[in-house]
Amino acid sequence: MEQLTVAMAKGRTATKAMKLFEQAGIYFSSLQDDSRKLVLTDDSGQVKLIFVKAVDVPTYVEKGAADIGIIGKDVLLEDPKDVYEMVDLRISACKLVVAGFPGPYPNTQLTVASKYPHVAKTFFTNKGIRTDVITLNGSVELAPLIGMADVIVDIVETGKTLKENGLVVLEEIADSSARLIVNKASFAIKTAVIQQLIGSVKEGMGVST
Ligand code: PRP
Repeated sequence: MEQLTVAMAKGRTATKAMKLFEQAGIYFSSLQDDSRKLVLTDDSGQVKLIFVKAVDVPTYVEKGAADIGIIGKDVLLEDPKDVYEMVDLRISACKLVVAGFPGPYPNTQLTVASKYPHVAKTFFTNKGIRTDVITLNGSVELAPLIGMADVIVDIVETGKTLKENGLVVLEEIADSSARLIVNKASFAIKTAVIQQLIGSVKEGMGVST
C-alpha cells in the first residue's frame, strides 16, 4: 500500500481525529500526550501524520506536502484552497458568528475585529454595510470591551467566552466542524488507498459510505 501523509494541528481536534482514526483501525501507539514530535507513523507504517499550525493545514494539502488534512470549516471559509473537501468529520462543531453587546449594531459603517477578516468583510459587504476590519490573532472578545470595534466575527463553541465578557451572538454566519480535505493530484494518483481510508473513517463514524 502507498503511504499517505495526513496533516493536522495538535490540540482538541487532533485528539478527536485520532479517535476517529482508531475507530477506522488506524493506530498511533507511539503517540504520547506530552510529545513534541511533529511526525508520527501509524502502527502499520502506512499513514504518516504531520503536525502543523491549524491555519497552515490547507496549504500543506494544496501544495501536496500532505495528501490529506484535517481542518475546521472556519479555516477553509476564511482562506479557500484548491483541495477536495470530502468528509464532514462532525467533530469540533462551532459556529462563525457576529457578536457584540446586546442590541442593534450600526448598519451603515462598522468597525469589526476578527481572526476571520475575509469572512467578516464578505458577510457585511453582502448586507450592504461598509466595514473597517481589524485583523486580530486572538482574544478578539476584548475589542468591543475596550471600544476598538463595534462587533466581532469569531467562532463560538460553548458560548462561555462571550458570556463571561458580557457579549452575545447577534447573527449566525455559518456552521463549522472539522473536515477531511484531500490534495487533488493525490486523489487522482492514490484514489484507491484514499477512498479506502475515507471509507474506514466513515464506517468508524457510523456513516454509510
Ligand atoms: C476561540 C474563539 C473564542 C473561543 C470560543 O478562541 O476565538 O474566543 O474559542 O469558545 P467558547 O464559545 O467555548 O468560549 P481560542 O480558544 O482559540 O483562543 P484565542 O482567543 O487565543 O484565539
